[in-house]
Amino acid sequence: MVQLIPEGLRRMVGGATALETGTREAVVLSVAAQKGGVGKTTTAVNLAYALARFHDLRVLLVDIDSQGHVASALYRLVPPTGGEGVSDILLGKKRDIFEVARPTRLDGLHVTPSDRHLNETEGIIGARIGKELLLRQASRVARTHFDAIIIDCPPNLGNLTLNALLASSHVLIPSDMSVLSLQGVHDLVDALETVRERLGHDVKLAGLLRTRVDGRNRTVNEAILEALEQDYGPQLLKTQIPVNTALAKSQLEGRAVFDYAPASTGAAAYRDLALEISWRLGLSARGGPAAASHPG
Ligand SMILES: Nc1ncnc2c1ncn2[C@@H]1O[C@H](COP(=O)(O)OP(=O)(O)OP(=O)(O)O)[C@@H](O)[C@H]1O
Ligand SMILES: [Mg+2]
Repeated sequence: MVQLIPEGLRRMVGGATALETGTREAVVLSVAAQKGGVGKTTTAVNLAYALARFHDLRVLLVDIDSQGHVASALYRLVPPTGGEGVSDILLGKKRDIFEVARPTRLDGLHVTPSDRHLNETEGIIGARIGKELLLRQASRVARTHFDAIIIDCPPNLGNLTLNALLASSHVLIPSDMSVLSLQGVHDLVDALETVRERLGHDVKLAGLLRTRVDGRNRTVNEAILEALEQDYGPQLLKTQIPVNTALAKSQLEGRAVFDYAPASTGAAAYRDLALEISWRLGLSARGGPAAASHPG
């Protein structure tokens, strides 16, 4: 039967109960890069996991990429979903990402999964007024229940990434050591400036993260590092992520690297990243003093 009363109106008429607000104030961090395959999902998943496990934070990991890689990268931790995902939020069927957040087997870590309709949804919201503000509006309640919300973005600067940036206080940009990736970093930093100027939202750069660093490519690494230091200086994170097969294998195994290969160089690097990010963003432990000390 054709739905004559839109969902939002039905809720108003039916007097839907208000979502309960919490007492926290989340830092919202998008992990974004225009180039594909630079380690956005690997970073979002392992950073979220490390912040929950080693820093005792309540963390929500939100997947806004239709590829749905967060759920597959953590399939051993996340109970099977009922098909609900970010599309339900963007289309107004659910009010807040908190409603779609699922607890995982790791205490403190929740996941709001992507869904298979997300590409279609991106097209539908394209015609809506305020289309870039949907996620921001739909994260008001979630922000009060978590210390950090981490958003894994798709590899482009489309509507979904724009929604993530407008919902975020900070953005973390992973970049592999290639010229193409470097160009993508410049484009994204330009986009942040445009968001600031045209939409009045000041999303701060949490840092640039060098990923998939292969120690054997010294000449290329040094050239890219020099360009990054020259352009971004203090925003270039001290932590760098090496090429490490444990990271790729853990993703295939549906676990965070800390469970799959805790002694690997990949696990050590993402633990360092969690410390550096928690310090930079002033994240503190659940109900306690700041867990992180200055990484030096
Ligand atoms: N440091 C690393 N060492 C080895 N393999 C890695 C590393 N980082 C990521 N990978 C692997 O590279 C592939 C791409 O990584 P990932 O999915 O994190 O990138 P992405 O930027 O999210 O990609 P997309 O743009 O498609 O969303 C995956 O198979 C992942 O396991
Ligand atoms: Mg990805």
